[in-house]
Amino acid sequence: MPQPKAIKIPTGIPELDAVLHGGLLQSRIHLIEGRPGTGKTTLGLRYLIEGRTKGQAGLYLSLSESVDELREAAGNHGWSLDGLEIVEMIPLPSEGVDDQTILLPTEKELSSLIDQICERVEQSTATRIVIDSMVEIRLLAYDSSHYRRQIIALRQRLTRKGVTVLLLDDLTSDGREFELQSAVHGVITLEQIEHAFGAARRRMRVVKLRGGNFQSGWHDYAIRTGEILVFPSLIAQEHHRPGDGLEIFSGIESFDHLFCGPLTEGSSTMVLGPSGTGKTTVALQYALSAVKSGHHVAYFNFDESETTLRSRLVASMGEKSDEDDAGARLQESDEENRFHLRRVNPSRISPGEFIWSVRRLVEDLNVRMVIIDSINSYLDVIREEKSLLRQMHELFSYLSNMNVMSIIVGAHSARLDTSKEPDALSLITDNIFSLRYYEHQNVVCKAICVLKKRQGRHEHDIRVLTLTDDGIQVGDRVKSNDDTIGAASLEA
Ligand SMILES: Nc1ncnc2c1ncn2[C@@H]1O[C@H](COP(=O)(O)OP(=O)(O)O)[C@@H](O)[C@H]1O
Ligand SMILES: [Mg+2]
Repeated sequence: MPQPKAIKIPTGIPELDAVLHGGLLQSRIHLIEGRPGTGKTTLGLRYLIEGRTKGQAGLYLSLSESVDELREAAGNHGWSLDGLEIVEMIPLPSEGVDDQTILLPTEKELSSLIDQICERVEQSTATRIVIDSMVEIRLLAYDSSHYRRQIIALRQRLTRKGVTVLLLDDLTSDGREFELQSAVHGVITLEQIEHAFGAARRRMRVVKLRGGNFQSGWHDYAIRTGEILVFPSLIAQEHHRPGDGLEIFSGIESFDHLFCGPLTEGSSTMVLGPSGTGKTTVALQYALSAVKSGHHVAYFNFDESETTLRSRLVASMGEKSDEDDAGARLQESDEENRFHLRRVNPSRISPGEFIWSVRRLVEDLNVRMVIIDSINSYLDVIREEKSLLRQMHELFSYLSNMNVMSIIVGAHSARLDTSKEPDALSLITDNIFSLRYYEHQNVVCKAICVLKKRQGRHEHDIRVLTLTDDGIQVGDRVKSNDDTIGAASLEA
């Protein structure tokens, strides 16, 4: 007999439903496991509230927190618990035992608690159930086989009732509760990684979902007031968009001459150089050109504060304006000129969330050029977690598959060390511009050259770069008797 296809029900978190390919398994038991503070209670409440909006009754059985504490947790998110059945069922030690006695849980104590839980569920009209948390049940078991037997009894009675259950588990009892994982139909693990700097990073993984498909691997998530945001991990090869041969010239003749042509769709370009050499200005020159020809551009800024950036934008985009309304006008032109500025703080936003916001701009707004200025801030994060480099590669392959141009700004000190990032990333980019300083008759000047161009020819000269009120200009070849600072940076 063919297995009936699993029916999925939404969790209230749309992106989690996407990871679960529709949601939780209806009439099945799910384990949500994670250390204290990972957001299990929040997820459980969100799940019941989602049911309430759909007219499905919900029951929260709390074995550890009081109703008041739960109300407070919900209040933190601006959620009301009205209409939900909240039951406090905190197991207390048997009466008449003084503090000196070590309590040995008895088989009867645990089975009577399981009985009470099942009776509560059976009396209720609720179809969405949360039991928080399993630790209290585990503590009453005298060994793991006792625990497992009771869990199976619980599972059978709840499944018979046809309710969809979330069992929350703190993972605080000794050893990993594989007996619990194997006794349920679905398992989601929540994790919190503490970094030496910045906010803790949260990630989740669906461990199993019996009879249902799901997106495997880790997905970053965040808890914000009023919502849990899940950022499904990116699989570049699942995304393709047909090209239309888009090409973007910088619009500066001398610059396009140096590069011998335009940037092409799907290509990735690194702009490398020490701080202050004009990397952002070069990137913005292409952005301006794309925007002028009617395309959407996303500019992710990691380093500068938005105000300095806005005034620089105004300047570099050659718009004459007085200080006062510069910001306002740019805000307006954000819409009108299809220029999407996003300020990102990498210590606050996980790579998963960053990648997700890039995807939204590409898929929802048809952005054709993405600028990341600069990648360095993320490199600190990448150094702590090597897997992030792979995620970045995935992002660039995705952009290429979607025929989006990417420009990645990378700052490095005068000496280029190819064994280090961002040069590790430069291996996967199609084009590389290198900017640097040199000294000429006791004046510090700037120079630019093209180190790499994957398609077609490019000039090999090192040329003078000047930043003027009218934008960038590429000038003569730098003369050999000029004293160069950081000559090594040109010999990648
Ligand atoms: N308004 C809020 N904005 C952002 N994070 C919040 C907010 N309220 C609670 N949190 C976070 O949610 C987490 C608590 O979630 P909770 O569901 O109680 O975890 P668990 O049940 O797994 O112990 C904490 O890490 C806390 O920082
Ligand atoms: Mg909790």
